[in-house]
Amino acid sequence: MSAPLPYVLVLYYSRSGATASMARYIAEGVESTGGIQARLRCVPSVSTTCEAVEPDIPEEGAIYAELDDLRHCAGLALGSPTRFGNMAAPLKYFLDTTTNLWINGTLINKPACAFTSTSSLHGGQESTLLTMLVPLLHHGMVYAGLPYSEVELLSTTTGGTPYGATHVAGARSDRQIDEHERRLCHAQGKRIAKLALALNTLQETN
Ligand SMILES: Cc1cc2nc3c(=O)[nH]c(=O)nc-3n(C[C@H](O)[C@H](O)[C@H](O)COP(=O)(O)O)c2cc1C
Repeated sequence: MSAPLPYVLVLYYSRSGATASMARYIAEGVESTGGIQARLRCVPSVSTTCEAVEPDIPEEGAIYAELDDLRHCAGLALGSPTRFGNMAAPLKYFLDTTTNLWINGTLINKPACAFTSTSSLHGGQESTLLTMLVPLLHHGMVYAGLPYSEVELLSTTTGGTPYGATHVAGARSDRQIDEHERRLCHAQGKRIAKLALALNTLQETN
């Protein structure tokens, strides 16, 4: 029996669907690489009412992530809507459950990237990506942005940054991902997939 393919975990939170759409384009970029798969997972909302209110399986979209999804990934693409220039609490809440992985150095030398969606063009995309980068560095991951060889970075008038893929969803969250944004999501997925394959040997020596 052949060994299972390595995978990039595309892990995100999304309330109105914009970040979820980006996640699907990033997953397409991962899978276009060959020899590696994308595993789409989301995290549930958190509530000030501290009772378990979410069903075990979401009504739509990707299923909820488990720590094992993160433990066994070859690379990570982390997505969140921007919340006051920061990542959304549900994603931070999930990351705060990863102490055991940190103690054991499980994610050291694995490549990671981040992506986000905002309602406004200057609403804090880059600061959000920086907040998402911080816990990844603490885990010893190798953070990858987008290089300017991705020409859309020079011509986009909407989303897309060297810190990672972004999308401007508009005030009503109804603006679709445009061609520049889509290509940059795809490029980000492809880049993480290539890095995951290249760094695989390094991970095995951890
Ligand atoms: C509490 C809260 C804070 C937000 N803060 C920002 C912000 O700082 N800048 C911005 O442009 N949009 C902000 N937004 C809008 C979301 O980032 C935007 O609608 C995003 O596209 C939603 O992604 P989703 O469809 O994946 O949930 C905020 C939304 C909420 C609910």
